[in-house]
Amino acid sequence: MAAQRNLEIKARDADPRRSLELALELGAEDHGEIEQRDTYFARTTGRLKLREQEPGQTELVQYRRADQTGPRVSDYRVVPIAEAEAVREALDAALGTLVVVEKSRRLLVWEGVRIHLDVVEGLGSFVELEAPGEGERLSDLRAKLDIRDEGLVAQSYSDLLLATPGLLLEAAERAMRNAYAPHSGFKVGAALRSPTGAVYAGANVENAAYPQGQCAETSAIGALVAAGEREIVAVAVVAEQMDVCPPCGGCRQRLAEFGAAETPVYLGESYATTLGDLLPLSFGLESR
Ligand code: THU
Repeated sequence: MAAQRNLEIKARDADPRRSLELALELGAEDHGEIEQRDTYFARTTGRLKLREQEPGQTELVQYRRADQTGPRVSDYRVVPIAEAEAVREALDAALGTLVVVEKSRRLLVWEGVRIHLDVVEGLGSFVELEAPGEGERLSDLRAKLDIRDEGLVAQSYSDLLLATPGLLLEAAERAMRNAYAPHSGFKVGAALRSPTGAVYAGANVENAAYPQGQCAETSAIGALVAAGEREIVAVAVVAEQMDVCPPCGGCRQRLAEFGAAETPVYLGESYATTLGDLLPLSFGLESR
């Protein structure tokens, strides 16, 4: 199957109702609302997602697209899939799932250009334009829909979602519920994201011989290393009894072993920092 080509833009949409009105006034065909659930797989060259939609058929979509805000070329293939769940499970087993993006899409088509008015779970409202081939009508439609430069977004929904703390905090919370903390009664959960997008979580594990206890961050690092990974690109830490639970000094050094100074650290919902800010002048043998 030969790849097809689109020219595309994506922008945050501050006023989705107005965008819909403008598109309808232009006489765009209205294809209605579609609920879409895209599963993005890890360890791929370019992107690979399984799109399950209602109404509509499940599709496997392979594409490559530059991360730039201006009109960008997307080379893609769309393959209809009969056995959605089986294919999702097989690809998850082989590659791992990077992230799942759920959205509600109002699809309109004007002069062959697709207009997507998307409400994406965890991200908000966006407008996308997809023009087939060299995209002659794209800038014309963009002006008519009043899509300004300041709203333009370079990344995919999957990357935007991976860059928000929500998913990582949820994984930390789940681990926290399983913490073994009978001695302090202080349950902690930590979650680490690696460059493949995979998430490794851990909880604190205490011991009757108190110094033998282990922090949640250390447990999570063990899980990441055991999976063959060596790099941390984001950290989340949550505690049941504290809104902001700062990692202990020892765990800061352990995290620094696998992260960079600019690696984001989310301490609960309300506090974001970096490994470098938590542990300036961390010890590293490379500074010998
Ligand atoms: N704890 C963590 O798991 N992570 C931290 O960053 C701070 C403290 C645990 C260790 C112990 O089980 C309990 O919290 C009370 O210190």
